Amino acid sequence: MRLQLLSDLHLETEAYAPRPAPGAELLVLAGDIDSRWDALERFARWPVPVIFVAGNHEFDRRELREAWPALRARCDSLGITMLECEELTLKAADGRRIRFVATTRWCDFDLFGPAERERCQRAAGYFVKIMRSTRDGRVFDPAAVREEALACRDWLKQALARPTDADATVVITHYGPSLRSVDPRYGHQPGSASFCNADDDLLAGADLWLHGHLHCRHDYLVRHPAGSSRPVTRVVSNARGHAHKGEADGHDGLLCLKV
Ligand SMILES: [Fe+2]
Ligand SMILES: [Fe+2]
Repeated sequence: MRLQLLSDLHLETEAYAPRPAPGAELLVLAGDIDSRWDALERFARWPVPVIFVAGNHEFDRRELREAWPALRARCDSLGITMLECEELTLKAADGRRIRFVATTRWCDFDLFGPAERERCQRAAGYFVKIMRSTRDGRVFDPAAVREEALACRDWLKQALARPTDADATVVITHYGPSLRSVDPRYGHQPGSASFCNADDDLLAGADLWLHGHLHCRHDYLVRHPAGSSRPVTRVVSNARGHAHKGEADGHDGLLCLKV
């Protein structure tokens, strides 16, 4: 199956016109598409099915408990398939069955281990301020983000442990699954735990792991030890980011991946 991958288009401020990639069988939107949700309209009547996983900025200035069902209703009305702690198996043009396992995943701040968690949560204060989201009427602070993140991880771990008859498994998260996905501009610092999780132990459950959130591109292979469920996992981010910061330089909006 040929997949077009886009994320972090930030259409709430960015002037960018997404276009269908020739030959793609599916479009994956890995979050931070438009904090106002208006631009999701652009993916209605897309020539191939569209899977959407929410990014953190889809919740900007919103109450989480209300935003989730509202965002799902918005996607439903546009014919976009939103997945959150859900999986979906689709048949490719070549007859292979591809299983998509998806969750925003949030960040649990354990990227550098539990001993560094507090420091990482303190460093997240800035992002909390930008988002101004609430959960149950209270600020969606790093402790609450961690709770959501752990629930996502539990679901993902169980989903990947279940036997499947699909020919390939694709995981989609908004947050990065490994320190290897860190933005090289910021590197190994506490703030990076707001962007990636140490989900390296889950990677072997996927043939392909797609993510966004880091405003940079990644495409790397992780080899697994003998006895793992598969020998290698490909991790890809095709985030666009903000043009005025130079993040969109070199971004290929027509990028297609084969799985
Ligand atoms: Fe983003
Ligand atoms: Fe994000």
